[in-house]
Order: sequence, then structure tokens, then C-alpha cells
Amino acid sequence: MAEYIRRHFEHQDDGWDPTTNPDGYIGLCVAENKLVWDLLEPRMAECRDLEHYSIGYNSMVGSMQFRAELAEFLGRTFIGRKVDPENLAVLNGAGSVLEMVFYVLCNPGDGVLVPTASYTGFWADLETRDELQIIPVHCSSEDGFKLTPELLDAALDGADRPVNVLLYTNPSNPLGVVYQPEEVEEVLAWAHSKGIHVVLDEIYALSVFGETQFTSGAKLRPDMGDLLHIVWAFSKDFGMSGLRAGVLFTENERVLQAVDTLAYWAAVSGDTQSLLMQLLADEDWVDRYLAENKRRLATAYRRVTEVLDAHGVRYIPAEAAFFFLVDVRPLMDDNTWDAEHRLWDRLVTDLRLNLTPGAACPQRRTRFHEARVQLRANRRCRRGRQAVGQVCGIATDLAGSRDVPGYATDRRRQVVVVANQNPLILSGWRRSTEGWNIFSASPCWSLRARPTKRCRNLHGQYQRVISTGSPHTRMSTVVG
Ligand SMILES: Cc1ncc(COP(=O)(O)O)c(C=O)c1O
Repeated sequence: MAEYIRRHFEHQDDGWDPTTNPDGYIGLCVAENKLVWDLLEPRMAECRDLEHYSIGYNSMVGSMQFRAELAEFLGRTFIGRKVDPENLAVLNGAGSVLEMVFYVLCNPGDGVLVPTASYTGFWADLETRDELQIIPVHCSSEDGFKLTPELLDAALDGADRPVNVLLYTNPSNPLGVVYQPEEVEEVLAWAHSKGIHVVLDEIYALSVFGETQFTSGAKLRPDMGDLLHIVWAFSKDFGMSGLRAGVLFTENERVLQAVDTLAYWAAVSGDTQSLLMQLLADEDWVDRYLAENKRRLATAYRRVTEVLDAHGVRYIPAEAAFFFLVDVRPLMDDNTWDAEHRLWDRLVTDLRLNLTPGAACPQRRTRFHEARVQLRANRRCRRGRQAVGQVCGIATDLAGSRDVPGYATDRRRQVVVVANQNPLILSGWRRSTEGWNIFSASPCWSLRARPTKRCRNLHGQYQRVISTGSPHTRMSTVVG
């Protein structure tokens, strides 16, 4: 767990209160909406009529009653067009939705494009159980972190592994910026032209308090096709991060089928679904709540920025969500991440104020950041080299000879081999003067590999070889 989060949980029971605890702790490092509890509490208390069906087994992606209400709500509010409840899957939080959707779209070892500055949680969501590697698309603070096709091309061209998906967040975390429809359109068009999936995280869609109108990707693409997937949750716009209810909206039948199969391990309780369903059904209340939430967010933003302006602290203006980037460099004793950490530590220890450090939001690399990235790469390489060492003979054989039985060259240039019973994905190799070098490999324990043919390695021994066949091995495994 990151240090700033650990410190937050240590101190949160000693929270600041103007009268009872004026020296208390102020945690500004977690994206939670604390402005609306007085609106939620009385209305939620009225939603406790449980129907009998709510406490029994039901569809693990959400009961049809709940998804129908949710489809109505999403269509009416930020999606801006009709939503078919069959195209929705509800899981316990946006984090679970992301983890699962990436599980089915990618294979272990694949890369995922993520524009920076980025929400730091994506690293845990994608790299832990899914075994993916985020390939940052470095955007620059000079132009407000604008994402362009040129930057996307550069990140894709520089990728050392297959890339199948782009994860794009609008409104952005941690910038609180709302992208214009033309910008979103440009990104969608780029991905479409490359056959790359876009997972569009729209979790802050209804927390926009500025002038720029939010436009959902689903509105820009009334026919979403197989490559566009939208993620939303109750965690932010409804201030209900502890209830754990996130939504996937996709028209890709195979993704829906795979998520449906896996949802048993990430389902939302029937009790929570019942509560949310009753809440959404009260359209008047929902509309009043959403309008008041925006008004309060705008007021809070204005108050904070007025203080920053008065003290000449620079920041990137925001129009949505509960955070924005503040430039604390003038307050640091050196222009390094170490100095930023020292400042952060002083704020928490002396003032009991916890801000999310910039180092936690992967963004354009400084020398220090580059050093960290390098270290990780080296560690990976060492493990990779050890693993590759076991199978190098086979891989060289596979990569070097086109007619080895079972050698798969799909458009992702991916081969799986089994060495000592361990399936290993070789995701990149290159010919050099010494022969073929493997530069990327990862174990794929989760792949229920089906050995196809036998082939001979360089030492003349027969080995079992698995062809990944389809570009969506995991999805194929799940869907069957
Ligand atoms: C952009 C973004 N996506 C996903 C999440 C995770 O949301 P949840 O709590 O619903 O899992 C967060 C939480 O901060 C977020 O900011």
C-alpha cells in the first residue's frame, strides 16, 4: 500500500472538526465526495424495503430489474441515448470492472496504453492479477496534458509487447479536466484505425461543475461496436465508494459473456442493488441531488482556488471531480521526487494535512522517475531472463524456423511454450547477430493452455507447444 494511503487510514478516525477537533487530521488524498452525505442519508434510509428476490441468488452481473433501472438512469443522464440493460454488467466497484474487462481483453504480459498524468490505482488494477504492463502515453503539462494521435503512435511504436487496449479517463483523474467531444473523437478514431479496444473510464461523468459539457463516448458512437467499453460507478458521483457498485457498458457480446461467467467472484449484494434501484427510480430526487452535488463541488473548488490564488500557488484549472494538480515546486527545497516527499511528510506530520504526492500519479518522467522505471524494468528483466533461460532453446527454435509444428504467428506475434510444465508467453523476440533474443516473457498460470503439437527444440528434445491461436486467449478460455 502506498505510504500516503497508509498514513490516511492510520489517521482518519481523528478527523478534523471545526469545533470538536480543530487540530484533527485532514485527508485530501483519497478521491471521495464528502459534500453530499446530508442529501444521501435521509433518502437512503427510505430505501430499505427489501423484496424477497433480493436476498437470493440472481444474475451475478446484476438482477434484470436493477439493470433496467440503471439503463434508464444512464441513458437519461450522461450517456445521452437509449441503453439496453442487456449491455450492462454490474460488479463490485469500477476497480473490479476494470480488472475483469482487462482480464478478458488481454493476455498476461500484454501492454495497455494509459495516458499520463494518471489515476495511480490503474497500476494495481491491471498489473497485479491480470499480469499486464501499463505503457504510459506521456502527455505534457505545457499543453494541459493534451492527448494526441502523435503521442499515441509514439507510445505504440515504442511498446516492447503486444498492445490491444487503451485505457482513457474522461473526466480525467488526477487533472479534473473534461475533454472536448472532438478530443475524445480523435482518440476513438485513432484506436479504431489500429483495431485497438478503448476502455473509457467515465466514473466522474456526473461530477462536472465547470463550463465544458461532458460528452460520453457512447454518445459519440451510438453504435459502439466491439471495440468500445464504458466504465462508471456509484463511488464518485453518488459519494458511495464503500457500497462497491461499478458498471460496465459494452455491446461486445463475447466480453459480456466472459464477464458474466466471471462475475460470481465480484458480484454486488442483492441488498445494495435493491437500495440503489429504489434510489434511481426516484427521478426527481436524482435530478435534484445531481444538480446540488455540482453546485457544492463548484463552491468547494472556488473556495480552495481563491486561497491558492491569494498565495500565488499555481495549479491546473479543473472543471470536474474532487481534485486538481497543484504545483508545489516553489515550496520544495530541491526539484526532485525526494524533495517532494520531504514536503509531503512535513505537511502530514506538522499540519496533519495529507495530499496525494505527484510521485503517486505517474506522469512525465523526470530523471528520478526514469531511474525508478529503469529499476523496475531491470528487475523484470532478471526474472524474465531466468524464465527465458529455461525455454530459450525452444523459443529460438520456434522463432527461427517457420515450419516448426505449432508455431503461431498471429498479428500479435505471440507464442506460448511449455517448459517443465510451466506455460510461458513469449511476447517479443528480435533477431540479432547472435541469433534470436527473447526480450519479453511472462508466466501465464491463468491460461488454461491446451497443448497442441509436439516440436523439437534446439537440443533435439521434443517439447509440447501451445499456439495462442486467437488474439483473445483468455476470453476464448472463459467463453469456451
Ligand atoms: C478514474 C478512476 N477509476 C476507477 C476508480 C475506482 O473506483 P471504485 O472505487 O468504484 O472501484 C477510481 C477511484 O478513485 C478512479 O478515480
